[in-house]
Amino acid sequence: MELHEQSEVTAKAAAIPGKGSQEQGMVRRDLLLVAGITLLSFLLASAFEFREWLAEVTEPLEPYQIDELPFVFAVLAIAMSWFSWRRWRHARHELHLRMQAQAALAERERQYRTLFMEDLAGNAVASRDGVIELCNPAMARILGLDHPDQALGRNLAEFYVDREQWRRHRSAAQRGERVEVPVLALEAQDGTPVRVIARVLPHGPREREPGLHIYFVDISELDHMQRQLADSLGENRLLSQKYLMVQEDERRSLAREMHDELGQCLNAIKLDAVSIREMTHDTLPAAESSANAIVELSAHVYDVVRGIMQRLRPAALDTLGLHDAVDQLVGQWQRRNRAVDCRFESSGDLSGLGEAVNITVYRLVQECLTNIVKHAQATRVRVGLHRTAVGEVTVRVRDDGRGFDPRAKRTGLGLVGLRERVEALAGRLRLTTEPGGGVEISATLPVPEAAALGTGAQREGESMKHI
Ligand SMILES: Nc1ncnc2c1ncn2[C@@H]1O[C@H](COP(=O)(O)OP(=O)(O)OP(=O)(O)O)[C@@H](O)[C@H]1O
Ligand SMILES: [Mg+2]
Repeated sequence: MELHEQSEVTAKAAAIPGKGSQEQGMVRRDLLLVAGITLLSFLLASAFEFREWLAEVTEPLEPYQIDELPFVFAVLAIAMSWFSWRRWRHARHELHLRMQAQAALAERERQYRTLFMEDLAGNAVASRDGVIELCNPAMARILGLDHPDQALGRNLAEFYVDREQWRRHRSAAQRGERVEVPVLALEAQDGTPVRVIARVLPHGPREREPGLHIYFVDISELDHMQRQLADSLGENRLLSQKYLMVQEDERRSLAREMHDELGQCLNAIKLDAVSIREMTHDTLPAAESSANAIVELSAHVYDVVRGIMQRLRPAALDTLGLHDAVDQLVGQWQRRNRAVDCRFESSGDLSGLGEAVNITVYRLVQECLTNIVKHAQATRVRVGLHRTAVGEVTVRVRDDGRGFDPRAKRTGLGLVGLRERVEALAGRLRLTTEPGGGVEISATLPVPEAAALGTGAQREGESMKHI
């Protein structure tokens, strides 16, 4: 075991260039010195007959066995040599361990230095007052400097846009607190605005007046892109809102045309057929039955046209208002689906919400009810419409049907269209469902004042992207 350790140590020591051979040279010199002293003492002892002189001197002390002392000293000398050799070996081992630890420390320092210098985030150590004492190239880049050395001695306060904010950060860190800022505005050396995620914390032991450790991550590019994205989202909203309004206008005029032209024509056909029927009542039974068929057919076509007109433009919205129009829609749906228990409840003043909100709410309820018939196999449906105290209107349709996996890819356009409608008004749409757990779709829309065009971008963070 010891041998193994030693060979390892020797191998590691050998890895430190120059040290081993230097030490070996010293040992050789010391051994030569010992051999020289031994030879010199032998020569002197033989020249001066040292042992005879000693025997003569110690002869009177023969009873005390003093003459045995030279042998004892010789043994002591050998024992001391062994003792020294052991200590030397131990010291050498210790030395190698220390050198090894030193090398590991140097390697670790090199690694940390690389991490610090190559970090993409800006790192700096500053005095208590914010004077930069050490920083990496990334920090220099963020501050608009060419080299980290140029930052040394500069105060961080110079780069803060808001000096008061700097004072707050510095005081907090001096008190031992950790400051985290999601977006901090800085100004680089050349005046360029810079946005960073910042962390300012105390650095060093508390008892010795800690300095500051500052950590900045440059997010200027990201921030810029985010603003651009928010702008284009706002524009997109505006466009879809306009597009939807144009679509609704188009539908309304189509419904009017159908009513005025097709409706009138069908009515005229029906009236003509009725008079033919009356005229041929007794004379031409074949013509009478054809006229009868025309009357029934024109009545049927009129019903179909009315249905189409109703879908194109819910006239009830104009005549009855939002609450009653939705009530009528739910009532009609209930009559067609008698097996389902469908109820409508509402609260708050639902008048004066404006054309855009009215049509969006109506279309949402319409699409949700259609989806329930098509996909849900539900037994209970609840439709809710509420005006909240904070100036918003919430519409919610819930069923207890088979639900679906909201993460699964869908090809339908109904829910996508709903989201577009709701977001065009800067509203929020939420879909809650799971297989077997029914579906709840709710939308919250700002009332007209807040839903004015152009506010979409400000409410960006609130829009939901479930669908
Ligand atoms: N109430 C519901 N219960 C169960 N599944 C639903 C419900 N509503 C929607 N889905 C599921 O979500 C999918 C997407 O609905 P969406 O309304 O977008 O499309 P669609 O109804 O299939 O077609 P479209 O509305 O374009 O005619 C549906 O295909 C259906 O699988
Ligand atoms: Mg649908």
